[in-house]
Amino acid sequence: MSLCKTLKPFALLLGAVFAIAPPAAFADDLTVKIGFAAPLTGANAGYGKDLQNGVRLAIDEANAQKIKIGNQVAHFVLVSEDDQADPRVGVQAAQKLADANVAVVVGHFNSGTTIPASQVYESAGIPMIDPAATNPIITNRGFANTFMVISTDAQNAGNAGTYAVQVTKAKRIAIIDDRTAFGQGEADEFEKAVKAAGGNIVTREYTDNHAVDFSTQLTKIKATNADLVFFGGLDTQAAAIAKKMKQLGMNAQLLGGGGVEDPEFIKLAGETAEGAMAWEYGRPLAQLPEGKEFAQKFKAKFGEDILSYAPFGYDATWAAIKAMQAAGSANPSAYRAKLKSINFEGVTGTISFDSTGALKSGASTLYQVKNGEWYPVVTKTGT
Ligand code: ALA
Repeated sequence: MSLCKTLKPFALLLGAVFAIAPPAAFADDLTVKIGFAAPLTGANAGYGKDLQNGVRLAIDEANAQKIKIGNQVAHFVLVSEDDQADPRVGVQAAQKLADANVAVVVGHFNSGTTIPASQVYESAGIPMIDPAATNPIITNRGFANTFMVISTDAQNAGNAGTYAVQVTKAKRIAIIDDRTAFGQGEADEFEKAVKAAGGNIVTREYTDNHAVDFSTQLTKIKATNADLVFFGGLDTQAAAIAKKMKQLGMNAQLLGGGGVEDPEFIKLAGETAEGAMAWEYGRPLAQLPEGKEFAQKFKAKFGEDILSYAPFGYDATWAAIKAMQAAGSANPSAYRAKLKSINFEGVTGTISFDSTGALKSGASTLYQVKNGEWYPVVTKTGT
């Protein structure tokens, strides 16, 4: 008699037992897929990886806590897609996440990818919690599945515009934007606020988000005698603008919106970073009750400091987990209502949403570079 023949009846019996009563470890486990999309390659990859680490930290903590959803212990798994900061790839990434049946998506990073991707999630009925993209259009379309844990540029760049006129007392304001949904959106909100405060815009110039040379725009701006230059775009280009302004002998104040206040700007701009200002989303982490502990945990786990948006990624992930816990289900149709009414103290502040899914009572902070470091100047809630 072969060994196989001896084992076969036993295997059949075992199969029958499993079919009737699966082992306790399997019965108690619920796998919950947390989708994530952001640029993980290309020029914005640093931001994407930082954000992804914030999501990872939340997932690892939730798994260590053996959180129960209903009567099952949830095992959260991260399903990541690289959207390359490209709107077309962003839609493909969103479709892949929807096809993978993720319970939620934390993402994307760029407004340019988030706006079209959110349509995919809306059609699929999957909640998207945006931790970084800030164009106000994102929550202005009446989508049931779109949430933001970060304040919008209507608030942030709006604050920048009011401040430039009322506090900086700029008399001749110039604007450059990178023509992305983010940079252009910021510049529009800034311009609106400057005009509402009675300020004077002397010129508005454009570039694109791959440009490295801003001589043409800055030469025109210099000729207008501008005393403040607002840039709608991200850190790398803002640093190149700071350098070029210095080369051209311009003394105008450089003011950026979100995504400029980070160590990368200072590293790239060198001493031309000195005095630059930027409005950034949220409150300074060091001033938040859990901010220091979060920064330490992050460094211990990933061996690097937070770059920028990681705390928002962390809070977005916890918002989803807490809503699932409250609903006793990871099914969007069951937990969506709990997400809409969520209210908890995150690392970045209170997380709760208005009827459009936008963050309630979001803050924004003005920073300035002094002696090679960013320092907070003032924080505002609302506009
Ligand atoms: N806040 C930036 C955007 O909306 C990252 O694209």
